[in-house]
Amino acid sequence: MEKRKIILSGVKPTGTPTLGNYIGAMKNFGKLQEQHKDDLFVFFVADLHALTTPQDPKELRKDIKDVAALYLACGLKEENLILFLQSEVVEHVQLSLILEGMTYMGELERMTQYKDKKQKQVEGISSALFTYPVLMAADILLYDADLIPIGDDQVQHLEITRVIANRFNNRFGETFTVPEGITVKTGARIKDLQDPSIKMSKSAPNQKGCIYLLEPINSIKKKIMSAVTDNLGQVKYNEKKQPGIANLMTIYSSLTNLSFKEIEKKYLGKGYGEFKKDLAEIVAKEIEGVQKKYNELINSEYLKNLLEKGKIEASKLASKKINKVYKKVGLK
Ligand code: TYM
Repeated sequence: MEKRKIILSGVKPTGTPTLGNYIGAMKNFGKLQEQHKDDLFVFFVADLHALTTPQDPKELRKDIKDVAALYLACGLKEENLILFLQSEVVEHVQLSLILEGMTYMGELERMTQYKDKKQKQVEGISSALFTYPVLMAADILLYDADLIPIGDDQVQHLEITRVIANRFNNRFGETFTVPEGITVKTGARIKDLQDPSIKMSKSAPNQKGCIYLLEPINSIKKKIMSAVTDNLGQVKYNEKKQPGIANLMTIYSSLTNLSFKEIEKKYLGKGYGEFKKDLAEIVAKEIEGVQKKYNELINSEYLKNLLEKGKIEASKLASKKINKVYKKVGLK
């Protein structure tokens, strides 16, 4: 019999997840679960990762709970799922420190996400922001995860995880599974609605460019209607010449499963107004569904119990693995 695969991912609770998080990652988790019924899904709220930049403690507490509820609201089911808070399983930190000992400064300096953030955050770059990819590697390797569903911006972090895993295995003997990433064909990098040259992100300079999963539906529609386009007046997929429209078409395609060609045909000879209005309805309907489920879950005993169970199950796997690692490196 084939070995049960481990499928693992995390979302950072720095504010409410965005439409980018949803399309590039969260909406696909439930579908993957249907395709991998015999495999194990290890999903967590990456709350320690949130602390790499300054957070308000009260807001962080709320965001952590929100992300946990949103995982389920976006489609993850409790069967074959371990859902937990990263900070409740201390082994993540233990492994991270060990892996830091075999990760080079130069490797971390090359991480584009770090370079971007460093550029934007004028003062106070924390050392944790720098070593962030190592914590992410620890998250993954601790569970011997095989498949990591992520958006485009995490691919480089997965690459360094593979490098670290191979390095450890070469030095101490076969210890970690070397993971593989899964990215969606359409929507792995949703762009900002006001500036399609940057990705949609919670730290966007202009809040009008970013849609949040828990924002009022009317405000979501307004943001779609005021998304930047161009003056060519044709719904056509051309990332270079029409980056705004290409981004909106990507959102459209990933929520309807219509191909770019089909969308182009549908809006042939029609203006951007009609296209945007339809898209606003499509996004609104999708997010309304997510919000409805979120509201049912957020204060439920069900969620609380699931996280409690998740913590116990994750800790069991993690402590076994860290024991092995301690032995390999000579701490035990
Ligand atoms: P985070 O919280 O920034 O994002 C969560 C997931 O959403 C994807 N994503 C996007 N996809 C498409 N378009 C966008 N604009 C967009 N923005 C974000 C991300 O690629 C990600 O898959 N370091 C991770 C969290 C993490 C993790 C892990 C993930 C911690 N440990 C282990 C996988 C495995 C992060 O900050 O993601």
